Amino acid sequence: MKRITTILLCIAVGLAVLGVPAAVGAVTGKLEIVHWWTAGGEGEALDAIAALFESLYPEVELIGASVAGGAGTVAKGVLQTRILAGNPPDSFQVHAGMEVRGHILAGVLEPITDLLDPAVFPKAVLDLCGYEGEVYCVPINVHRPNTLWVNKEIVDELGIAIPTLSDFDVFVAACEKAKAAGYVPLALGEAWTVNHLFGSVLLGALGPDGYRGLWDGSVPFTDPGVTLALERMKTLVGYANVDHAALSWDAAAQMLVDGKAVFNIMGDWAEGYFKAKGWEPGVDFVWASAPGTRGSFILCIDAFGVPKDAANKEAARAWVKTIASIEAQDIFNPVKGSVPSRSGADKSLYDVYLIWSMNDFATSELVPSLAHGGVLEALAGDIGDIINIFVTKPDVAGAQGSLNRAAIDAGL
Ligand code: GAL
Repeated sequence: MKRITTILLCIAVGLAVLGVPAAVGAVTGKLEIVHWWTAGGEGEALDAIAALFESLYPEVELIGASVAGGAGTVAKGVLQTRILAGNPPDSFQVHAGMEVRGHILAGVLEPITDLLDPAVFPKAVLDLCGYEGEVYCVPINVHRPNTLWVNKEIVDELGIAIPTLSDFDVFVAACEKAKAAGYVPLALGEAWTVNHLFGSVLLGALGPDGYRGLWDGSVPFTDPGVTLALERMKTLVGYANVDHAALSWDAAAQMLVDGKAVFNIMGDWAEGYFKAKGWEPGVDFVWASAPGTRGSFILCIDAFGVPKDAANKEAARAWVKTIASIEAQDIFNPVKGSVPSRSGADKSLYDVYLIWSMNDFATSELVPSLAHGGVLEALAGDIGDIINIFVTKPDVAGAQGSLNRAAIDAGL
């Protein structure tokens, strides 16, 4: 523990030099936080921000209540049970967008508008964190789900050119090449990662306006773009590992590290994972927009709020206030594989991929995430079920009919 104390002291001194506001008043007690950051990269990122918080609030005992399962598939259920029982954690990981909106409308969270400076957050981000003029969660990052990850050594060996991989047909040709050489072309994981992939494929097939229209009802799921997306999905899954249903997202990413698979389409928490495994961006792995999605940036924003029934509200408020600071975001995001959700970043702390992502975030069409709380939750769940049935039994017309019914059932 002495080592930890020394680290905390160094952070505290460093922060004082950086001018981070000191914690005001003595905040004490336990602070329990529910999250699902248990894999490589995301675990280290959480540790880093926890160390910062503990240095600012040494009298608070931070308890990370982790619930493994990427995209919060398991954590969300655990959280809901606790909320219904009137026993929420003091704070919890939640996606900005429709996911947090559900908690706001259900009266779970309290406004925390006074804890951040709205001027430093892009309006597009802050709008997803609030409702009717109040902010209900603090965004810690911005992830980019529509990213294609590439094992550099293998594509070099196979003579696959990287810059054009975002074109769907070029990507398919590259998958053919990889397959012929005995590699798994596309590493894929369990059910939610199939839905995640489908989000990028829909975006690629419909373009940003058409894709957005799916979620507000202005584009029906009977659209020919959805037919194209299902056909593309069928093609892509044909290049995936057959055991994908049994693999977590990080186990699928590991297939690239192990040199078994060439590509993976995953959010850039995979960047954090690759780095945690000792891979260097631009050297061991490279990236491109997921096929068909160049010029669009799917938003996946992790945030934390303060439940009305939190046992230690004061500590929860200290936690969200801390993560709103650029110092905290500059400690967390370079490890996590995400970019800050606010201005003021020290760009020298960010690697070549993250600078690319920052620029892309600033210049691209921003669209919501299907698998990470960006769209109506019930519809996203139904689409996840339909697309997972589809990949085992690829009936394009049948799946499209089911998608259309799900959208109608969701009120679109
Ligand atoms: C996402 C979350 C990311 C990352 C990923 C895999 O939903 O926003 O931060 O944790 O799941 O677990």
